[in-house]
Amino acid sequence: MTRPTQALIDRQALRNNLTLAERSKRGHCMPIVKANAYGHGVDIVCSALEHAPAFGVASVNEALELRTLGFKQPVLLMEGTFTPDEIELAETNDFWLMVENHNQKDQILRAKLKHPIRVWLGLDTGMHRLGFDTLEIKQVYQDLLNSGQIDRLTVLATHFACANDLSNDMTNRQIECFDKTSREIELTTGHILQQSLANSAAILGWENSLRDWQRPGYMLYGNSPFCDERSSETLRPVMTLESKIISLRTILAGDTVGYDAIWKAERKSQIATISIGYGDGYPRHAKNGTPVMIRGQRCPLVGRVSMDMITVDVTDCAFVQLGDTAILWGPELPVNEVAQYCETNGYELLSGISFRIPRVAKN
Ligand SMILES: Cc1ncc(COP(=O)(O)O)c(C=O)c1O
Repeated sequence: MTRPTQALIDRQALRNNLTLAERSKRGHCMPIVKANAYGHGVDIVCSALEHAPAFGVASVNEALELRTLGFKQPVLLMEGTFTPDEIELAETNDFWLMVENHNQKDQILRAKLKHPIRVWLGLDTGMHRLGFDTLEIKQVYQDLLNSGQIDRLTVLATHFACANDLSNDMTNRQIECFDKTSREIELTTGHILQQSLANSAAILGWENSLRDWQRPGYMLYGNSPFCDERSSETLRPVMTLESKIISLRTILAGDTVGYDAIWKAERKSQIATISIGYGDGYPRHAKNGTPVMIRGQRCPLVGRVSMDMITVDVTDCAFVQLGDTAILWGPELPVNEVAQYCETNGYELLSGISFRIPRVAKN
C-alpha cells in the first residue's frame, strides 16, 4: 500500500498541445522543459514529445539529465553558461548556448574548442533581465564570428515581458526593436541570423512574433498563459494532481479545524482530510475556500495546509466516502483557478510539485 497521492500525466494531451503550438506552420517549436518540465517529469514529457527538433532548459545540469535519459536532440541552455568548463561540455554534448552577457561571450572566445559551437544571441528588447542591448550586440556578434568559435547558424533571440496581456502594446514595441536590430546586424555583418521571440502567450496571441523558432512552455502543459483564460478551450491540461480522502469526521458548529485553529465551523460540518500538503508542493498559503474537486464538485479547503495533509469541507457533497478521489487541479479544475486562491500563477504551482509526488504517465 502506498500513499495515494500522484500526478497523472496525459501524454496525448501533451502531443495535442504541441500540435496547437505548431499550427502556424512557421518555423520550429522547441518545447521548454526546464524545472523538470514545469513539474510534469522531464522523462515522461520528452519521451511523449520525442519528435521535437530540440529542447530548451535553464542549465547544463538539466541538459545533461536529458542526455542521461537518452534524448539525442540539441538542447538550448537558455541562461547560457555559468562557468567556463560548461562550454566544452556543450561542445561534446551538442548543447546550444544562449550568449547574453560579455562574461559568457569572453568565455567562448577563450575556450579551447575542437569545432565551432552553436549560439543563440540574447537581445534585450525591453524586459531588462537578460541579453545584450541594441547598441552593443552587433559588435558582440562580429567578435564571435571573427573568432571562428561559433558556427554560421546563429539565432537572434529575445523574450517578452507582457505577452500574456493582449492589451499591452509593449510586445509590439519589443518586436519593432527586435526587427530593427536584426536588420542592422545583417547590414553590418552581411549575415542573416535565424530569429526566435515567441513564448506560449506570443504563439497564441501575437502572430507577428512567429519566426524561425518558437519556444512554448506553459501552453504545452495545457494551461492558458493569458490573464483572461483565452485559448484555454483548445489546450488540454496535462497534469491531474490527485489524492484521496484518508479521514472523514463530523464536527459541531463552533469547532475549529487544523493548526492555529484559523477556520471555525458555522454549522455542523463534515470534514474530509486529504493526503497532500506543502511538503508535496501544495501551497501552504492556499486560502480557505480554495476549490478541491471531489465527486465532480468543487469543495472548499478549510483550515491551514499542513505538511502532508489538507482539510476540506464536504458538508454539501452528497455520498462522500472515505477513499474518494480528491483532485487538486486537472482538466476539470484549472491550475490557473487554484492559483488565484494562492496569490500566484499556475507556473509556480506546477513547477513547485515536489519529488515526493510520483509522476505517472497515463497513456
Ligand atoms: C527565454 C524563455 N523562453 C521561453 C520560455 C517559455 O515561456 P512560457 O512557459 O510562458 O511559454 C521561457 C520561460 O520562462 C523563457 O525564459
